Amino acid sequence: MNKSNGQRNERVLLTGGSGFIASHVLDTLLDAGFQVVVTARSDEKGRTIAESVKPHQICYAVVEDIAKDGAFDHVFQIQAPFDYVVHTASPYYLNVQDPVKEFLDPAIKGTTGLLRSIKAHGPTVKRLVITSSSAAVLNPDNHPKVYDETCWAPTTYEDAINHPAKNAYKASKVLAEKAAWEFVENEKPNFDLAVINCTYVFGPIQRKLASLEAMNTSNHRIRDMIQGEKRDGLDPTAPVFTWVDVRDVALAHLRAITVPKAGGNRFYVVGGHFSNKQIADIIREKVPSLADRLPADAVDDLPDDVFSFNNSKSRQVLGIDYTSLEKSILDTVGSILALFPDA
Ligand SMILES: NC(=O)c1ccc[n+]([C@@H]2O[C@H](COP(=O)([O-])OP(=O)(O)OC[C@H]3O[C@@H](n4cnc5c(N)ncnc54)[C@H](OP(=O)(O)O)[C@@H]3O)[C@@H](O)[C@H]2O)c1
Repeated sequence: MNKSNGQRNERVLLTGGSGFIASHVLDTLLDAGFQVVVTARSDEKGRTIAESVKPHQICYAVVEDIAKDGAFDHVFQIQAPFDYVVHTASPYYLNVQDPVKEFLDPAIKGTTGLLRSIKAHGPTVKRLVITSSSAAVLNPDNHPKVYDETCWAPTTYEDAINHPAKNAYKASKVLAEKAAWEFVENEKPNFDLAVINCTYVFGPIQRKLASLEAMNTSNHRIRDMIQGEKRDGLDPTAPVFTWVDVRDVALAHLRAITVPKAGGNRFYVVGGHFSNKQIADIIREKVPSLADRLPADAVDDLPDDVFSFNNSKSRQVLGIDYTSLEKSILDTVGSILALFPDA
């Protein structure tokens, strides 16, 4: 670190810069003084990200489709050297038509392609941090009593093909993460790997977002509630009853870079349990102007015997002190109303 201006001489490549989680990872990296290059799928998206931070604070590189062979090669050839790479880019949405093209290829080939590019063209990279997911941890058909980093989702490629709506995203995350660990094990590159297995993420939306429809998937339930779409009844909370604030997720990514012993580890990053009723109650109680958009008599469907989780590794190694559900929901609502006052 250069002590006079708080800047580090270290450079980070952040993939998927237009994304919800990436926007917070970017802020966290910049606050920590890193020089950052983000990837985006188009010039327009790259410019939007650059305009969301101070002028000339970041560079961007266009990577149209991470599933393509050698998709990241030009980024290393033109923008290197990098000290760290943070890989957040991966599809996450609900309406799946083609599980292979839309989910499995971008997640798996995107990850292995990036690993190959770093190995071939990024000799200065010391660590790769991958945003995996609780989708690579949870086994909703047969929950253990307590989840931690030793747990792996059993979802297969075939599961994704046979039941895309249920399994395409899950399979994309677990198979991409497994491929990354296998690559490191087999190829023994000169960088190590740390993985953030965050659960369902709430939190403030990006500072620039084209529309409410463009909002990231995991904040949809909050958006829908404040738009009055759930006035007549909340959706079931299942299958995921755990959540985490995006700022904690971003900090976990930063610490996965800066804490030497984070290398070689998965981190199950989870802040607590939640239900849709708890979210609705927080909004109704703390934002009275939205109260009549929420159902009055919702039932709390958080099961009494809901699976438990152990997040001690993320607390101890990464130093995460988790945000409360109330703060996360209220900050999310505030960020949506600030950008879209007519929501
Ligand atoms: N949000 C959650 O609850 C949650 C929980 C656990 C893990 N995660 C993981 O966190 C990461 C980011 O998720 P997010 O919630 O921030 O979602 P997001 O806002 O939808 O961000 C996804 C990012 O990936 C990019 N991307 C997707 N497919 C791509 C492709 N084929 N080629 C190039 N770029 C591609 C997107 O680009 P465009 O913007 O151009 O589409 C976007 O930048 C993902 O790996 C996701 O699996 C999310």
